[in-house]
Amino acid sequence: MKNLDILRKISQGMYVLTTQNGGCIVDAVSQVSAGDNPLIAVSVMNKNYTNELMKVNDKFALSILDEKVNGEIIKTFGFNSARDINKFEKVKTEEVEGVNIISDSIGYMVCEIIDRIQNDTHTLFIGKLIEADMFKESKEMTYAYYQEHKEDILKVTTENGKTAWVCMACGYVYYGDELPEDFVCPVCGLGKEMFKKKE
Ligand SMILES: Cc1cc2nc3c(=O)[nH]c(=O)nc-3n(C[C@H](O)[C@H](O)[C@H](O)COP(=O)(O)O)c2cc1C
Repeated sequence: MKNLDILRKISQGMYVLTTQNGGCIVDAVSQVSAGDNPLIAVSVMNKNYTNELMKVNDKFALSILDEKVNGEIIKTFGFNSARDINKFEKVKTEEVEGVNIISDSIGYMVCEIIDRIQNDTHTLFIGKLIEADMFKESKEMTYAYYQEHKEDILKVTTENGKTAWVCMACGYVYYGDELPEDFVCPVCGLGKEMFKKKE
């Protein structure tokens, strides 16, 4: 028996992962050692441009999102690829150790990449914390909170009488009367059965 529902009980947060020239939304982040030089692990899909960048770059940063974050940040970094747009033109950032971090966040961690563990779908990047700071005290957004409130956070509205189809796994929105037969979510790769219609 392999009941994958149990995975939903692992608590995850919501972050913008950035590196030199790009970045994306991630929830697969964990602190894997403590002490003065903690290690942070982040898992990035091989198909993401951020993954390509992190194979050649030496650093990454994680900006921690709060429950009141502007949903445009999640749309920009989570529903688009830096192959197609300049994400940093759309969102206010500041530079720390040569990496852009998100101004509208609780704070950030900048890490030096010390290891990369590759599997067939994802790469686990392990970083040593070199810089970190807090901008404000605010309630961090958990992945569970995002799942529960994503339609409000992303302000999913129907446009010009079009129907919106929302991916129940990641929140990606497709506009159109019907989903194409072989449609797969461009963000998480799941099929059309994961989409809920919003009229
Ligand atoms: C809520 C949410 C959580 C996500 N978590 C991850 C994650 O942990 N790892 C990952 O590689 N992609 C994750 N993604 C998907 C990327 O953010 C998305 O594919 C992005 O468009 C990739 O952009 P890039 O091609 O510029 O790297 C997540 C997206 C959303 C909306």
